[in-house]
Amino acid sequence: MTYFFILGKNPILSKAEIEAILEFLDYRFQIIDFSSNVLIVEIKNSLDIEKLNQRLGGTIKIGKILAKIDSLEVFEDKFFKLIKFGKGKIHFGFSLYGLADKINLQKYLRKLKPVAMEIKRRLREEKNLNSRWVVSKEPALSSVIVKKNQLLKYGSEICFFIKDKPSFIKASEGMEILVGQTLAVQQFEEFGARDYNRPGRDQVSGMLPPKLARIMVNLAQTKQDAKILDPFCGSGTILQEAIVLGYRNLIGSDNSDRAIEDTKKNLDWISKKFEAASSDPLTKLRVTASAVKVFKLDVKDLSSQFEPNSIEAIITEPLLGPPLSGKESQEKIKQIVKDLEKLYLSAFSEFIKVLCKGGKIVIVFPVFKFKNFTEKLNILPQIEKMGFKKENQAELIYSREKQHVWRQIFIFKK
Ligand SMILES: C[S@@+](CC[C@H](N)C(=O)[O-])C[C@H]1O[C@@H](n2cnc3c(N)ncnc32)[C@H](O)[C@@H]1O
Repeated sequence: MTYFFILGKNPILSKAEIEAILEFLDYRFQIIDFSSNVLIVEIKNSLDIEKLNQRLGGTIKIGKILAKIDSLEVFEDKFFKLIKFGKGKIHFGFSLYGLADKINLQKYLRKLKPVAMEIKRRLREEKNLNSRWVVSKEPALSSVIVKKNQLLKYGSEICFFIKDKPSFIKASEGMEILVGQTLAVQQFEEFGARDYNRPGRDQVSGMLPPKLARIMVNLAQTKQDAKILDPFCGSGTILQEAIVLGYRNLIGSDNSDRAIEDTKKNLDWISKKFEAASSDPLTKLRVTASAVKVFKLDVKDLSSQFEPNSIEAIITEPLLGPPLSGKESQEKIKQIVKDLEKLYLSAFSEFIKVLCKGGKIVIVFPVFKFKNFTEKLNILPQIEKMGFKKENQAELIYSREKQHVWRQIFIFKK
């Protein structure tokens, strides 16, 4: 079976998360295509799409590839063959994605109008069904549009994946379009609520976006009962996402009183919210019984509090430096980097003691991105010398436009 994943704003990171989770859940898979924000994967066994959608932080839509066509004009017949109709009004929409750089999707967008009109006509005349074609200005419908218009409930979103270049199979025809149907869209409201509605928020120290915290937990590939530590827990975003994923053996520490207070408030809030939302008595029981330990501790003293080799995963975003205005000189940033290198190295020298053999670290390093220079921590050789192996091959960056501090995610194994 072939599936597609529409990836979030940092596609390399989203791809790494999908690979980590498919591997962790024992799926046998092969990547067929990866272009800009689309990942196409062939999977031997059938995929539990709903479960996967609830788990991933960096994926916007998941669906199945249904067919291959040579031109959009021939799609309308396929539509009637591929889509099952219920009773009542049908809501349908199309999204276009390019599987190569520089594809002019607008050109294809124009071709979709007559196709949609013909589908509407046939639905009315042949099946006696009213329908609504949902459109947007962009070539692809956003997950918000798909959800708000209830496309998955009352009809379908059809995604077209366009390759302009001749493919191996149909070189003579020079064009190949994969047709897919969206089966799940990201629960963006839930991520938003966990970001903005939680009681403990600290804008000054900075908070991870919950989607990134979720990606980091997934990258660690840890079993449900594993002991997971966030030693720079801040307001507890990583612990919060781990709770939602069902992890129960969690510990958070931080050297600031404010952070400990925020984390406790947020974890209490998320546990209650989760408990209230769940109709499953077992889930309620597990949440109530969960004991997340949170306490004040400087990272330099970790080994005084934890048994050697007792932690199975450390997932964390340490200090990323002071708030910046963007006007700092390179010299100033170099000094910040030096100070952070010291803190990170002292943290790693504690991590090696408390982490068990084979244990994972998923950690954020800051990258200072200024107009005329980029500065990064340069401590990988020392970390590897301590006995850690860097696991990720690709450079995993989480960035937002105009931010001076980008986050680079590393995965290490002891
Ligand atoms: C960027 S914040 C972490 C934010 C967190 N990921 C969140 O989403 O809320 C870094 C945290 O590291 C803590 N910190 C700084 N130096 C520390 C140290 N030496 N030991 C322990 N925690 C420290 C700060 O108090 C701060 O809460």
